[in-house]
Amino acid sequence: MIYADYNGSAPLDSQVKNYLLKRLEDGPFANPNAIHNLGTKTLMGMEKARSICAKILGAKKHQIFFNSGSTEGIATVFHSILSEAKKNHKTSFIISGFEHAAIPNTASYYQKEGFEIKTLPTTKSGIVDLEVLKKWLEEGRDQLAMVSIMAANNESGIIQPYKEIGRLCNSYGIPFFCDTTQYIGKAHFNFEESEMDYAILSGHKIGALTGAGILLAKEPSLLKPLIIGGGQETGLRGGTQNYIGNETLAVALTSVEEKLAHSKEIELARNAFEKDIKDSFPEVVIIGESSPRLGTTTYLSYPGIHGQAIQIELESDNIFVTTSSACSDNSPVTSHVLKAMGISDEVGRGVVRISLGMDSPLGYYKEIGEKLKKAYRKLSKVKSF
Ligand SMILES: Cc1ncc(COP(=O)(O)O)c(C=O)c1O
Repeated sequence: MIYADYNGSAPLDSQVKNYLLKRLEDGPFANPNAIHNLGTKTLMGMEKARSICAKILGAKKHQIFFNSGSTEGIATVFHSILSEAKKNHKTSFIISGFEHAAIPNTASYYQKEGFEIKTLPTTKSGIVDLEVLKKWLEEGRDQLAMVSIMAANNESGIIQPYKEIGRLCNSYGIPFFCDTTQYIGKAHFNFEESEMDYAILSGHKIGALTGAGILLAKEPSLLKPLIIGGGQETGLRGGTQNYIGNETLAVALTSVEEKLAHSKEIELARNAFEKDIKDSFPEVVIIGESSPRLGTTTYLSYPGIHGQAIQIELESDNIFVTTSSACSDNSPVTSHVLKAMGISDEVGRGVVRISLGMDSPLGYYKEIGEKLKKAYRKLSKVKSF
C-alpha cells in the first residue's frame, strides 16, 4: 500500500506514535489548570511543548496559541482583525483566488457583514500578481483591514513569495496573515524572519494528532477569542486544553526538523518521476512545473482523462491519491485553484494530486510511476472527455 495523500492528512509520525504509547502508559492525566500536583505536572508538560514548538518555529513562547487546527486559526485571525477594523472604518481585505476553501468561505461570511473582498489576480505560474498587490495597497491603504495569502498551496504545492508579500504589507502598515498549513512541516520556516503577522498549522498535516494546532501571532494583544470560556491560553481560547494533542505537536515538529535534512533527496526523486511520466506521455501537464513548489507534491493532468478515473485505477493497485475535482452528477468541476491560474477545464478535470511525506521511501515514486503509466495507457484508449 502506498499512501500518497499527505497534503490531505499525514499519517501519525513514528516518533509521535512511540511518544504516545509511553505517554498513555505513564500519564499524568489531569486538568492542566488544576492547582494540585498532577495538574501542575500536566501543565508543565504542555508548557514544555509550547517552548519546543516556539523554538522550532522561530517564535517567542507567548506568540504560540494552541487550538484545534488551521480552520480555527483562520476564524480567529479574521474575527480578531475584522471586528476591530469595523470600528476604524476599514472596510475591505485582500485574499488570493487560490486559498484553501476555509479562507474564501470565512471571507464570504464577513462580506455579508459589510466587508468588501478584493481577490488578487494570479499569474499563469500560480503566483499572485505582486504589481497589482502593490497598487491595491497604495490605493486602499486607508480602507484595507488585512491581506490573507497562503504560503504553499494544498493542491499544487506552489509556494508564494511570502516574505516579499509581508514586506509590502508591512510598508503600508497592513496586517499580513499567511496560511502556512501546507508549508510548515514541508519546508524550513521561521516566524520571526517570515514578515508575517499571523501564521497557522494543523497537527494532522505534520504527523501529530488531529484536533491539535497552533496559531502564531506576532502581537498577541491584538487577538480576540472566538471561545471565551474559562480564560485558558491567556484568555484567548477558552476550554480545557488538548494537552496530549499539544504535546504531540512538539514531538512532530522535532521530527520534522530531522526529516527536513533529507528534503532534497525526495524532491529529486519527485522530479525524476515527473520527467519519466512526461517522457512517456508528453501531453501530460504538471501544474506549477516551473514555479517554486513543495518537494513532495505532484499535481498532474492528462487532458481528456478524468482524474477520478486515474484515482480509481491507482486505488485498485493500492495507491491512494486524490483529485481536486468536486464531482456532482458525473460532471467533475475544475477547482477554484486551477481556475485562478487560468487553467482550462480540459486540464482541470484530469488532475490527480500525489503528495508524499519527506520520509516516504524514494522507491515509492518508481512504483507510482509504473502504475500511473499503466493507467494512462489503459484510459487513453477510451478518453472520457
Ligand atoms: C492550506 C490549508 N489551509 C487550511 C486547511 C484547513 O485545515 P484543517 O482542516 O486542519 O483545519 C487545510 C486543510 O487541508 C489546508 O490545506
